[in-house]
Amino acid sequence: MANKTTAAITGVGAWLPEYILDNDELSCMVDTTDEWITTRIGIKTRHILKGEGLGTSYLGERAVKNLLEKTGVDPLSIELVICATVTPDMFFPSTANLIAHKAGLTNAFCFDLSAACSGFLFALWTASRYIESGAYKRVVVVGADKMSSIVDYTDRKTCPIFGDGAAAVMLEPTTDGMGIQDALLHSDGSGAVHLYMKAGGSAYPASEETVANNWHRIHQDGQAVFKAAVSHMGDTTLELMEKNHLAASDIRYLVPHQANLRIIDATAARIGLPAEQCMINIQRYGNTTGATIPLCLWDYEKQLKRGDNLILAAFGGGYTWGAMWLKWAY
Ligand SMILES: CC(C)(COP(=O)(O)OP(=O)(O)OC[C@H]1O[C@@H](n2cnc3c(N)ncnc32)[C@H](O)[C@@H]1OP(=O)(O)O)[C@@H](O)C(=O)NCCC(=O)NCCS
Repeated sequence: MANKTTAAITGVGAWLPEYILDNDELSCMVDTTDEWITTRIGIKTRHILKGEGLGTSYLGERAVKNLLEKTGVDPLSIELVICATVTPDMFFPSTANLIAHKAGLTNAFCFDLSAACSGFLFALWTASRYIESGAYKRVVVVGADKMSSIVDYTDRKTCPIFGDGAAAVMLEPTTDGMGIQDALLHSDGSGAVHLYMKAGGSAYPASEETVANNWHRIHQDGQAVFKAAVSHMGDTTLELMEKNHLAASDIRYLVPHQANLRIIDATAARIGLPAEQCMINIQRYGNTTGATIPLCLWDYEKQLKRGDNLILAAFGGGYTWGAMWLKWAY
């Protein structure tokens, strides 16, 4: 039987900035404690990019170079780069463009995709369609965010959550049944009021007023986001598994977006998966938005075997959310 073409992840790379912001340092910035952050969110440290003029492309460039080193792939053979980010270096050109230029992927066409914490999942699904169509054979998907550039470090309810980082995967076609199998992705703009950054776009361009009002920082209603994340991530992950006749015993790992350990635990429990089969690195990196899921794949790469069933699940601002089933290809 001739197998259909699917898109397989054939490599993963990442990069994290050197500076580590731990809970004790945060406790000097806002009224919080290591104990509160550890029990309510599950984060101990996050990496922060310091340095004048360094943006998300600085992170993404290094993640892509790590990917190229590990895979030995010729950068000129990459045909498309998609970067999932909500913290682009600037409105235009796209951060994907800047990353491709700096990392020498000069034959690729490039664009950014904005779906907040679901960005990597949306970008991976989009990239997989380009491969399955037969149009392209080598696509790089980058998840990268410099969240420290938009975090309000006077808001104790929000600032402990986020960190900076980048990770990238290589996607190539295969006919051996491995790779991306299915996904369910959703958006609901009514959630916009609970998680957003008000200014800096066309509605409220930067002005003295927007700066004075602190509108260039993340605004988050934590409880509303928490409830929506738990219910939507769980529902959609279960729906995807039922649709594809997958039981918990078929799954090697759940790869959840890393926003709050309690959201991760609730999602794993909802699909009946033991904690040790859930990729977790939130304690070290925090929520790096576009980068969390590929950073998990990068951290757990050595534990993965060809044919392992992975379920990727995400929830983010927008609202946006989704789940994806893939078979690890190497
Ligand atoms: C933000 C979040 C950690 C807050 O946790 P929570 O358990 O909901 O806490 P609440 O907002 O109910 O606050 C409970 C109390 O803790 C306090 N608190 C909040 N942040 C605190 C902090 N960093 N340190 C100490 N106390 C804090 C609150 O002021 C409140 O005190 P009060 O009862 O005296 O008013 C949690 O709601 C969350 O993770 N939401 C989802 C966020 C998310 O996933 N964002 C990314 C989207 S992908």
